[in-house]
Order: sequence, then structure tokens, then C-alpha cells
Amino acid sequence: MERGRAERLYIRLESLMNRESPFNPFLHLGAIGILLLWVILFSGIYLFIFYEISLEGAYSSVEYVTNRQWWLGGIMRSLHRYASDGLVLVTLLHAFRVFILKRYYFWRAFVWVTGVATLWLIWISGIFGYLMVWDTKAQLIAFLSARLLESLPVLGIPVGLNFAVERLLSDQFFYIVLFIHFSSIVVITLLLALHLDRISLPEITPPRPILWGVLLVLLGMAIARPAVSDAMADLKRLPVDITLDVFYMFVYPLFNHLSEAMIWALLVGLTALVAAVPWLGRGRRDEPARVVETLCVGCELCMKDCPYTAIQMKEKEGLVVAEITDKRCAACGICMGACEYSAVELGTLREEAIYERIEALCDGLKEETEAPRVMVFACRWGVEAERLLGDKKGVALLSLECIGMVQSRMVDVVLHKGVDGLVFAGCREGDCAYRRGNTYFTQRLEGIRPPVIKPGGPAGKRIRTLWFSAEEKEAFLEEFGAFMEGLEKEEEKGEPV
Ligand code: HEM
Repeated sequence: MERGRAERLYIRLESLMNRESPFNPFLHLGAIGILLLWVILFSGIYLFIFYEISLEGAYSSVEYVTNRQWWLGGIMRSLHRYASDGLVLVTLLHAFRVFILKRYYFWRAFVWVTGVATLWLIWISGIFGYLMVWDTKAQLIAFLSARLLESLPVLGIPVGLNFAVERLLSDQFFYIVLFIHFSSIVVITLLLALHLDRISLPEITPPRPILWGVLLVLLGMAIARPAVSDAMADLKRLPVDITLDVFYMFVYPLFNHLSEAMIWALLVGLTALVAAVPWLGRGRRDEPARVVETLCVGCELCMKDCPYTAIQMKEKEGLVVAEITDKRCAACGICMGACEYSAVELGTLREEAIYERIEALCDGLKEETEAPRVMVFACRWGVEAERLLGDKKGVALLSLECIGMVQSRMVDVVLHKGVDGLVFAGCREGDCAYRRGNTYFTQRLEGIRPPVIKPGGPAGKRIRTLWFSAEEKEAFLEEFGAFMEGLEKEEEKGEPV
């Protein structure tokens, strides 16, 4: 697997962050987005209590909350504003991350497309939120948005007229704005439900330190730089010197350079291009996993472990068996690791062939080298252990699609073959290429996730898990070297290795 320059650079930047803190926020951007949505919802409900839905009252009711009730209402308004800005930022970073790591092909395409739709809804909702304030900023974006809408041949009504003369603007406008602002939150929630429909056990709450960190930053900003309105909208004057919110109003400066038709073409074209990303330049898809129904006992473990909800249990001829939805299958092999009954095959990769390979590697290791002899199971997405350890004396390595593929029987086979140490090398914790492979494997090793891996006795001490990203080679080699040294020392002491 070849990684591009940009991908490597990005992984390197993240590895710096991994080194500094156990809580890298970039591993939790989706969950941070959901946290921000909660903040937006709660602060929004508070603001709504005081909002007056009328031309006369809209601006003054927001001013009341901001200035007269600054100690709570003002803070709520600022939280609402900054959480909304933060949501756009975090969502863009989340999308950029999955893009740069190429986590959008095939089984993730639906997740990607629903993400793009969600982002658009967030923007629309934000713009309608700004209109509710009815200050000069709202006046400008109302006027320009109306121009954009009028340029569509389908609408057929001069929306802009409403903002030309005050008497043509009625309270009805504010009811419509409020309705769209609120209902877009409902649509965002529905879209997010679709977004996460093909992700099993998605992380919807960030780790505590990140959660509190985000809330504190929002609160700090709300106190240090409270959100305020511009002057009240006045349709008799043209709004000038307006500062626009870069997160929500990036379209409006385009009016200085492009016609409405060109802006539409740009927006539609860009959205179509971004939405089409999963279908651009994709290579060949690996064959999906397959259930050998005669061996399946219906234990459901593969269904529970599948990271992309590709496995369901179905009744067939009176028996419950697992069934794989091919288009959702990532062919990661995590289901194989969960199956104790050899009932999962991965494309052309048969289980017997993997066992034969493991045995051959262990036999070769014993014949060729003195102790310590170490067998390494390496995920091909993590630290690229194959490149680093390929020629190392005393090391045999089996490269796997995901470390979650390792079955407890594979561990038994290796230990029975008499190797001295066993290493599992995979992606960074929390950043498995298949979302959960290394987590599930660790839980099996800790005996808290079935099927558990029970090396038992002294063998347990000769097992090491090394979770490092592709740009953490030095740290990986250091830990691997220390492990080998430890085994050597034990051997010198004459302890059975
Ligand atoms: C408010 C907006 C969004 C929220 C709250 C959100 C949230 C999430 C969450 C919680 C996950 C699951 C993470 C996990 O447990 O592994 C996820 C996955 C994903 N999201 Fe989003 N997302 C949003 C927008 C987007 C956008 C705009 C895109 C791309 C255009 C996107 C693309 C993806 C993809 C491809 C995955 C799957 C990643 C993987 O399989 O490792 N999301 N999102």
C-alpha cells in the first residue's frame, strides 16, 4: 500500500499531537461535532424563549438578551454563535481528515455523501439564524440571498421586493425564517442518523478531557468576546461596512466578482465534485467476506464486531446464521477474528491458508535462528512493520488487513510452535483504519471481549501490542527493540523461553 506525500505529512503532523497528549482531538472530530450540536440545541432553546417573532420585536428581543441579560442570555447567545462556528470548522476538519486518509471509498461512500448533505444543511441553518437577528448583516444577506433565489428560473416570485421597502416586509417573514432555522436542525439530525447508520457503535461523545476542554473554550470565548449584533436593519439605507462571518457567509463576497448564475454554477459544481469523491480514482475493491453457513453457529459475535454494520443474523431453514451485505463489507477481516468456528472466509483468503502460513513462518524461524525468535502479526495500515522488520534476524512477520482479524487459535498455534515472543503491531489506538480492530483485539487479550485470547502462564508475558501510526517508526522500533532485549535477558538467565 503506497501512501501519498500529503497523507504522510498529515499522519506526521498528527503523530506530533499523539506524542504531546493522549487525547488527540483529531481522532474525535465527529464526536466533537455532535457535542457542538448539543450546545447549539440547548442554547438555542434558551434564546427562543425570549425571541419575538415580528419585524418590530426581533432585533430588540435579541438586544435585550444580549445586553440586559448578559450574565446568562448574552452567554447563551455567544455559546450559540461560537458553537455554530465551531461546528463548521470541526465538520470541515473531520471531512478533510477522512479525505486525506482516503477513508471514503466503497462501503464509506454513503457516509461521505450524507456528510456532504449535512454540511450544507448546517450552512443553510446558520444563515437563517443570522437572519433572525434582523440587523444590518441580516439585511445584507437577506438582500443577496434573495437575488440568488430570484435568479433561479423555477421560483418565479420577486423575493427581493420584500427587502426593498419596509411596508412590504411583514411578520410572516420572521415566522418563515424561524421555521426554516428550526426545521433544518431536525433535518440535520435525520441526516446524521443516516450518516451513522452504516457505522456500528459510532463514537458520539468525545473523551471527557476533550468534552470539558471544548465547553471551557466556548465559555471562555463567550465571556471574553460576547457575540453582538450590528445596527438594526434599515431598509431605507444600504448596509455598508458589514463584517461577515467567514464560516457561514463565504458566498456573499462572491457577489463582488461573479454573476448569480456563476455563483450557482460554482456552488452546484463544487458540491457535485465533493459528493462524487468516493467514485473518483477508486481502485479495485477487495472481495467481501463470505459466511460458510454450514459452519456458522449463529453466535452473533461477527455481527457485533463488524465496524460497518455489514452483518445481520437471518433465519435459514430453521437455523440462525450470519449474512453479509456485500456493498457494506470493508473486507477488513474483523469478523474472521470474531469467529471461533471457521465460518468466515475473506474473498479468496481461506482460513486454512492463513494457518498454514503461520505454521510455516514459525517453523522457518525455529530452523534458521537462535532465540529469541519472535512472530509478528502486523496490520498493513499501521506502522508499516513489514518494511521495518522484514529482514530482521529472529523475526517472522505476517501482514494482515487488520489486527482485529487475529483469532485466539492463531495465538495458540504460535505459542505451541515454541516461538519466544509474539508481537501485534497495528494502527494507533483510536485510529484503526477499520475503526475498531485494535480496540477489539486488545479487549480480547484482556479477556473482556469474546472470543477471549488466553495465552496464560509465562507465555502471556511474551506478548506485546504495539500501536503506532505510519509516521511513528522510531518509537515503534525502540519499543520493539526493548521487547527483544527483554526476551534475550530472560534467555540468558536460563528461564524457559
Ligand atoms: C455535523 C457534521 C458531522 C458529524 C457530527 C459527523 C459525525 C461522524 C461520526 C460520529 C462518525 C463516526 C466516527 C467513528 O466512530 O468512527 C463519522 C464518520 C464518518 N464521517 Fe462524519 N460527521 C459529520 C460530517 C461529515 C462530513 C461533512 C463528511 C464528509 C464529507 C463526513 C464523512 C465521514 C466518513 C467518511 C466517516 C467514516 C469514517 C471511517 O469509516 O473511519 N462526515 N462522522
